[in-house]
Amino acid sequence: MKSIIVANGLTKVYRRGREEIHALKNVDFRANEGEFVSIIGPSGSGKTALLNIIGCLDTPTGGHLQLNGAEVSGLAERDLVKLRRENIGFVFQQFHLMPTLTARENIELPLLFSHKNRGRNKIDRVLQMVGLEERGDHLPGQLSGGEMQRVAIGRALINDPHILLADEPTGNLDSDTSLMIFDLFRELNRKGLTLIIVTHNKDLARRAEKMYTLRDGKIRVCEIFS
Ligand SMILES: Nc1ncnc2c1ncn2[C@@H]1O[C@H](COP(=O)(O)OP(=O)(O)O)[C@@H](O)[C@H]1O
Ligand SMILES: [Mg+2]
Repeated sequence: MKSIIVANGLTKVYRRGREEIHALKNVDFRANEGEFVSIIGPSGSGKTALLNIIGCLDTPTGGHLQLNGAEVSGLAERDLVKLRRENIGFVFQQFHLMPTLTARENIELPLLFSHKNRGRNKIDRVLQMVGLEERGDHLPGQLSGGEMQRVAIGRALINDPHILLADEPTGNLDSDTSLMIFDLFRELNRKGLTLIIVTHNKDLARRAEKMYTLRDGKIRVCEIFS
């Protein structure tokens, strides 16, 4: 099996005045291509810090990261942007949709920043993939929370990323809707997508193949299911 994410000895230190906050302490993390991995841990344990580093939204204070065979540590900003655009899709707890754009236009948005072709077919395919065929022309305000998160997932998928990262994607959704979003993740995973999902909810986290538990900036346990 091919490793698509390899992180070794990651540390992250935030400085607030004289205070140092050690958000990540020597974290080793690995995911294989096509794997569905969850990360759980209490608030403040470093989940977002880890996900942001894996997604190249933030840089570690120490340690090494490889994505899809490429060394990330030490890359210049523009190479980092390229690596991120070609490999990573990101989903957040707050859906971060543009309120004046339709579902279809929100999903299309990243194509404006990449040099990939902007086919209507492509957007239709993504709308179908996230179960929103009938909702393409709705504004976010006309959608339910679960539908809004589906739009955000579609937007994350439009550039064909190898890896989907989601930071508490069901944090604003009720339990039934959360289950449906996790079913969608599983379906995308079956099609070959690598998924790393951060959640507070252990029952949801156990739907992944592998679960990392973070506590106090350290990986405490890695459980493997099925
Ligand atoms: N920009 C920042 N400046 C200072 N401290 C931060 C910053 N971001 C996060 N932290 C601290 O780092 C630790 C880990 O935060 P975070 O990764 O957001 O935790 P989680 O996502 O698990 O709730 C926390 O103690 C948090 O307060
Ligand atoms: Mg967080």
